[in-house]
Amino acid sequence: MIVSFSLNGSPASGRVERPISLLDFLRDELKAIGSKSACDQGECGSCSVILDGVVVCSCLVMAADVEGSTVTTVEGLESEGTLSAVQQAMHEAGAVQCGFCTPGIVVAATDLFSHNSSPTTREIKEALAGNICRCTGYGAIIRAFETLAGEST
Ligand code: FES
Ligand code: FES
Repeated sequence: MIVSFSLNGSPASGRVERPISLLDFLRDELKAIGSKSACDQGECGSCSVILDGVVVCSCLVMAADVEGSTVTTVEGLESEGTLSAVQQAMHEAGAVQCGFCTPGIVVAATDLFSHNSSPTTREIKEALAGNICRCTGYGAIIRAFETLAGEST
C-alpha cells in the first residue's frame, strides 16, 4: 500500500509492503534520519516525533497508520537554516554531548513550549521524562529550557 501524509509541512508518501514502524519508514524509506533509533521499544524517546499534535515514539507507531496524518520531526523545526528557539537554547547552553538523544529532546521540548511558554523546572522535567540521555547531560538540558522559559516571562 502507498501511505501518504504531511511530513514537516510537505506532502510525503511511500510504499509500505510489510509491517514497519514509522521510525523505520522515516529513516529507511523517506531518508529523514533526524529521528534516532536507540531502543525500538518506546523506552528512550530518541525517536520522538509530533503526530497530529501529540508527541509519540515513532518506533511504536506503524507506518501504515499515519495515512492522512501530520508528522513533524526534528528536521521540520528549523526555518530556512535558522534554529528554533528550543534548538538555539540547547546550543547556547552546550546541552549536547554525543547528540543521539538531542532530536527527541528537541521535539519533546518544542511540544512543551508550544503549549506553555514559561514552564517551571518541574514541568520541564515532566515533559522530558520519556527522553533518556545516555551521556547524562540532563543538567545542561534542563538549564537550557529554564533559561528559555525565563526569557518568555
Ligand atoms: S527508539 Fe523509540 S523510544 Fe527508543
Ligand atoms: S547527548 Fe549523548 S545521549 Fe544525550
